[in-house]
Amino acid sequence: MDALLLWDTSGMGIRFAGRTEWVLASNRLTQVIAARRADGLGMVDLTESNPTRVGLRYPAELLEPLASAAVLQYEPNAVGMLSARQAVAEYYGKRVPAQAVRPERMVLTTSTSEGYAHAFRLLCDAGDEVLVPEPSYPLLQFLADLQDVKLRHYALVCDPGDRGWQIDFTSVRAAITAKTRAIVLVHPNNPTGSAVSAGEREELNQIAAELGLALVVDEVFLDYGLADERLGAAACLRSFAGNEGALTITLSGLSKICCLPQMKLGWMVVSGPAELAADAMARLEVIADTFLSVGTPVQVAAPVMLGQRGAIQRQLLERVRTNLRELDDALAALPACLRLAVEAGWYAIVRVPNVGSEEELAVRMVEECGVLVHPGHFFDFRQEGYLVLSLIVPEAVFREGLTRMAPLLAAR
Ligand SMILES: Cc1ncc(COP(=O)(O)O)c(C=O)c1O
Repeated sequence: MDALLLWDTSGMGIRFAGRTEWVLASNRLTQVIAARRADGLGMVDLTESNPTRVGLRYPAELLEPLASAAVLQYEPNAVGMLSARQAVAEYYGKRVPAQAVRPERMVLTTSTSEGYAHAFRLLCDAGDEVLVPEPSYPLLQFLADLQDVKLRHYALVCDPGDRGWQIDFTSVRAAITAKTRAIVLVHPNNPTGSAVSAGEREELNQIAAELGLALVVDEVFLDYGLADERLGAAACLRSFAGNEGALTITLSGLSKICCLPQMKLGWMVVSGPAELAADAMARLEVIADTFLSVGTPVQVAAPVMLGQRGAIQRQLLERVRTNLRELDDALAALPACLRLAVEAGWYAIVRVPNVGSEEELAVRMVEECGVLVHPGHFFDFRQEGYLVLSLIVPEAVFREGLTRMAPLLAAR
């Protein structure tokens, strides 16, 4: 989210809700970027994560269903059109045991973000808590604030010996209080690219079942497994959809699965002990019915869009792999910098020598190199010294960014 400044309207008669009292003053990095843009100076943007801006070729077939007569019919269905839910169930296909994901245990939403909102509404009263990973996706804080939910963090720790990121279960247990209602997992996580392992999944199921917590699992990057040879990870990651060990709400959507964020279609898959899952579904149906937010055209088009995902994902995966190799080649000449292991997703993390703040480094990257990267603190890294690079930018742009950054990194 871009930084924005809130006005001081306290003397003007309206009292805004406390949950909107965000302190969002623009930071030095945003100011420097704005100044550069105002001066008409270009920048190599290595934070770009909007897939519609990176030159992918979208199959023309995607547009056909949007022009069909079916989009002119309105048959409201709180949980979404059956044909669209069936297409989502098929998407899970071989990733889950047969019949583990059924259309009647699914709610369509406008986005994964709306899925989070519905899940928090289902599980939490005001002031209740959910656990989220750190580092992770920055929007989680806003999603929680808007539902009056309090976030508590558990740590993902990176093993320097190449085993990648793991959940620190001591911090999970320490974060749980009487008000905790759910554990959020981002599988694979943004930006660490780490997936929840089979052993971690078992332990999470045990904790959740024992303490009466739900698992809310964000799987928007599930299809982007990279099989990092250092980790020996499987490229095809196992979904939590259909997880039976605890009440589980699995979230995803077209935004990343088909690289179509503008279509606004997401979903929630509910699983777990049968009675709990049925009860959760009945309640979610009322929440969804209150808004009936998902548009008909995208639901009509969902089977075709999901059916075309392979053609889109192949382009993106190839690019991510090429950029990752390019990054490794560039870092080979910069021994003080280290690219952390990545199992999946669209991002790479580079550990840089921890001298001076990473914010300062990102500012200098813009001013001196004309390159924009995310400092790690944007994603709530516990320590300084990390830069996050998007791997979905076109290969030539990525290479240019690396070439421009190299002298500054070499000088650290
Ligand atoms: C981990 C994660 N979850 C959810 C989203 C948003 O998904 P949607 O567009 O479906 O709301 C993003 C977007 O970048 C993300 O990184």
